[in-house]
Amino acid sequence: MKCLIVFSAILLLGVLVSSDLDEDKRALLDFINSFPHSKNLNWNENFTVCNDWTGVNCSFDLSRVIEVRLPGVGFRGSIPPNTISRLSALRILSLRSNSITGSFPSDFYNLTNLSGLYLQFNEFSGPLPLDFSVWKNLTIVNLSHNAFNGTIPYSISNLTQLTALNLANNSFYGEIPDLRLPNLRQINLANNSLNGDIPQSLRKFPSWVFYGNNVSLPVAPSPVIDPVFPPQLPQKNGKRLGGSALLGIIIGGSVVGFLAFAFLIVLCCSKKNLEKEVSEKVQKSGGSQEKAVSGSQDGNDNMLVFFRGGVHAFDMEDLYRASAEVLGKGTVGTVYKAVLEDGSSVAVKRLKEVCGGRREFEQQMGVFGRIRHENVVELRAYYYSKDEKLMVCDYYSRGSVSAMLHGNRGDNRIPLDWDTRLRISIGAARGIAHIHMENCGKLVHGNIKSSNIFLNSQNYGCVSDFGLSTLMCPSSPPASRVVGYKAPEVIDLCKATQPSDVYSFGVLLLELLTGKSPVQATGGTEIFHLVQWVQSVVREEWTAEVFDLELMRYSNIEEEMVEMLQIAMACIARMPHQRPKMSDVLKMIENVQQFDNGNRLSAGSPMLTPDAVGLKSSEEP
Ligand SMILES: *[C@@H]1O[C@H](CO)[C@@H](O)[C@H](O)[C@H]1NC(C)=O
Ligand SMILES: *[C@@H]1O[C@H](CO)[C@@H](O)[C@H](O)[C@H]1NC(C)=O
Ligand SMILES: *[C@@H]1O[C@H](CO)[C@@H](O)[C@H](O)[C@H]1NC(C)=O
Ligand SMILES: *[C@@H]1O[C@H](CO)[C@@H](O)[C@H](O)[C@H]1NC(C)=O
Ligand SMILES: *[C@@H]1O[C@H](CO)[C@@H](O)[C@H](O)[C@H]1NC(C)=O
Ligand SMILES: *[C@@H]1O[C@H](CO)[C@@H](O)[C@H](O)[C@H]1NC(C)=O
Ligand SMILES: *[C@@H]1O[C@H](CO)[C@@H](O)[C@H](O)[C@H]1NC(C)=O
Ligand SMILES: *[C@@H]1O[C@H](CO)[C@@H](O)[C@H](O)[C@H]1NC(C)=O
Ligand SMILES: *[C@@H]1O[C@H](CO)[C@@H](O)[C@H](O)[C@H]1NC(C)=O
Ligand SMILES: *[C@@H]1O[C@H](CO)[C@@H](O)[C@H](O)[C@H]1NC(C)=O
Ligand SMILES: *[C@@H]1O[C@H](CO)[C@@H](O)[C@H](O)[C@H]1NC(C)=O
Repeated sequence: MKCLIVFSAILLLGVLVSSDLDEDKRALLDFINSFPHSKNLNWNENFTVCNDWTGVNCSFDLSRVIEVRLPGVGFRGSIPPNTISRLSALRILSLRSNSITGSFPSDFYNLTNLSGLYLQFNEFSGPLPLDFSVWKNLTIVNLSHNAFNGTIPYSISNLTQLTALNLANNSFYGEIPDLRLPNLRQINLANNSLNGDIPQSLRKFPSWVFYGNNVSLPVAPSPVIDPVFPPQLPQKNGKRLGGSALLGIIIGGSVVGFLAFAFLIVLCCSKKNLEKEVSEKVQKSGGSQEKAVSGSQDGNDNMLVFFRGGVHAFDMEDLYRASAEVLGKGTVGTVYKAVLEDGSSVAVKRLKEVCGGRREFEQQMGVFGRIRHENVVELRAYYYSKDEKLMVCDYYSRGSVSAMLHGNRGDNRIPLDWDTRLRISIGAARGIAHIHMENCGKLVHGNIKSSNIFLNSQNYGCVSDFGLSTLMCPSSPPASRVVGYKAPEVIDLCKATQPSDVYSFGVLLLELLTGKSPVQATGGTEIFHLVQWVQSVVREEWTAEVFDLELMRYSNIEEEMVEMLQIAMACIARMPHQRPKMSDVLKMIENVQQFDNGNRLSAGSPMLTPDAVGLKSSEEP
């Protein structure tokens, strides 16, 4: 008895299921049979709709048709009414690249589950339906390249799921509605007959999406920039940027964290003016939130400029809303981690004391933004206003090499093994060598140090912050952290050269080999200089004492470490012309790694002689 009930239930379910699918099948056959087309479709009644029919896809349980994709089938005329609209579970409809005429089919109102509608490259005409709010799930709408006219329905602003709207190449007229759609990532309204102002909500998009209309364009700074480097900056001295609006917002609730961090900084550097600066900022962050938000409303001045083809993964509002934590404070400014709404993170650098005007800044950003290399941290966007200069970069969750080497030397420290250190060197060398080849070989990094190196997904080093020193005011005193990497001939940090980059890279290699910071206060008044120390140890004792104790647990790496030490010593040669070029350094380091690929020398104890580490060729003190 039980069995019978279950059996008939299954039977009934089967009938119900197949009847829905049968109706969908019927609708599709009615559609294809009454709609002239030139390409043959294999929509054979005797085949199963879900598996065999071209361009048709069904729901997971094969009970309903949910996708119909028929691009370029050669449909002519208007869509026969009451056919495709009977597929009430339809989610994706693509009829693009046909020759369909007539107006927007009114019976599409019955396709309430529609999420993707692709009708581009047809000959539809007339106005769009006024009420779009029935299609609550619409995510992508592409009606471009038709002859639609009339105004853009304001009801589109009800489509909260909408991420992309393309109405380009039609004949829409009237004003652009203020589409406050949180998820909208792409819009294209180009080549219509629209007029009036571009509403605030859409000004974050690049201006080309409005071209071919009579609308007033926001003055969007162009990231396409002529390759002049370094740009001649007007030397405005020491103009301190006023407290930051954005900072106020970004810090938001985390003033306490900031204070703690600020305290640390004050403690570490004990620089006089820092305390004042910090308290200024904290004051601002407490008081100016509202002002900051209204500041973001005033249009043209406040635009994030994106690279990577203008993909708007986030906007200023997102950054304002983002929960932010201070990642660090460096020579160029403070770096925050901003967690965006979708859960991803970006690093926001708030630059201090930028010299020169908007043009110079944009030029420089253009140079950075164009560089695409797996070992160079990508600049995703920048922001320029009178009071605020931001750079938005990829965020690396594991922190900088500096943090990995020197942070947390306690019990629960995760040691940085030799392979990783090799990869860090190779990656950083590749990134720097690439930068040195850019702009006809004239580009300089200018700020190589372990806190500017991050690890990409394959654990290779990735360099960031290049070229920024040229944007900074020369008056700012070099932080002690930088001093340890500075080549002896460099007096003004803004005048770094490629050979001085090589020197800094050599110091980075020493840091990786020894595990020691380039410059350390030793408690008393004495200061430990890594370069001098390595040179003296190597000269006087010829022992493996220079190497990080943490590396001693790995066997058979002495040869590689000595090789690396030789390379580092060559890089820190006192005279710039004695240092190898970065491309040569890269080759040498890549050769070190070859020991890894099977032919590791079965080494006795390495010969740490002055010759072996190349000390003879570098300068005597
Ligand atoms: C479907 O099968 C029936 C019976 O086997 C046959 O008569 C009919 O011609 C077939 N239809 C098509 C379109 O092949
Ligand atoms: C049909 O849908 C499934 C998942 O629902 C997808 O994997 C498959 O690629 C789709 N097929 C076509 C032709 O779109
Ligand atoms: C559309 O849905 C309405 C009711 O929601 C129904 O009366 C009408 O017949 C449907 N039209 C089509 C073409 O299915
Ligand atoms: C729309 O999709 C949902 C979820 O897949 C489904 O439950 C619902 O029945 C669909 N609506 C129609 C009208 O088919
Ligand atoms: C929209 O899509 C969701 C799942 O993606 C579904 O649960 C819901 O029923 C859909 N809403 C409508 C109105 O079709
Ligand atoms: C809009 O397009 C329709 C259909 O082509 C046409 O009849 C109508 O005159 C157009 N309206 C305007 C204002 O151009
Ligand atoms: C819409 O169609 C145009 C033309 O085919 C295409 O370039 C564009 O990428 C499409 N946009 C979206 C959002 O699908
Ligand atoms: C608009 O039309 C122009 C010229 O035909 C074409 O180059 C462009 O790709 C079209 N844009 C879209 C989005 O269809
Ligand atoms: C948005 O939808 C709501 C309810 O569905 C409706 O009252 C309102 O008029 C719609 N707004 C627009 C602009 O169509
Ligand atoms: C607008 O049309 C012009 C020429 O007709 C074309 O070059 C341009 O690509 C179109 N713009 C867009 C965004 O489609
Ligand atoms: C463009 O718009 C301005 C004002 O909105 C108007 O004066 C001008 O005539 C328009 N130009 C065209 C070609 O429609």
